[in-house]
Amino acid sequence: MAALAEKGRNAQHQAAADFDWDRPPAIPVWLPNGIAASAISQFYHGEIATARMCHQILRDLSCREAENFVETQISDELRHADIYDRYLEKLGGIRNPARHISEAYQKALNWTGAPQAQILAFHVVLEGEAVRLQHSVGMWMPCSLFRDISAVIARDEARHVAFGKIYLRDSLPTLPLPERLAIYRWVREIWFDAARSAVGRYAPPAFLGGARWRRWLEMKWLERLPDLLAAGLFSRKERRVFENA
Ligand SMILES: [Fe+2]
Ligand SMILES: [Fe+2]
Repeated sequence: MAALAEKGRNAQHQAAADFDWDRPPAIPVWLPNGIAASAISQFYHGEIATARMCHQILRDLSCREAENFVETQISDELRHADIYDRYLEKLGGIRNPARHISEAYQKALNWTGAPQAQILAFHVVLEGEAVRLQHSVGMWMPCSLFRDISAVIARDEARHVAFGKIYLRDSLPTLPLPERLAIYRWVREIWFDAARSAVGRYAPPAFLGGARWRRWLEMKWLERLPDLLAAGLFSRKERRVFENA
């Protein structure tokens, strides 16, 4: 934990100004500018929501090292927001948050139980998803500026996800089973809200609706369970109970 906080402190010298902003953005020819801007705006809103959550949990953390880390994370997230803001300026400015994605973040912010739940929702589930999404956006964006931005942000996000797993693997297993089951159901709801909205808004229409689409989402959720296991939400033996919850 102390090593992660140290890495976090070292990352603070990075600034939005360090990128070569003279390059124009390059959006794929098949993608309307407005849709690309709206998709990238969701990253921006996610950064702001995550910084808010970090402020919320700061007073509930169990050790000084964790506090030190989360303080560096707040600066990271605000720096990321700043970088996206600057990129989006080139695409006509920040667009509105997608309704279900912002509802998912709001639900995560509204939690009043054990702080481990919010750390799981933000650091493991939502940030894990943002890292995956950013990676795939980077694959189809023929934009060297966006790729440079993504590489720097992804390095920070990987550190945040690692912090979440380390913090949780000691503290989550101490919660009683019913409480962990309640956290599981809550975090699953958040994931489905965000995933349905993210894919529903930006995927080709032929892909959406019907049983196939539901099955696909459910299958994707099951792929997230190893992350929850690694974070200590359940043991290998308990996995079945959670899958059927
Ligand atoms: Fe971030
Ligand atoms: Fe982050």
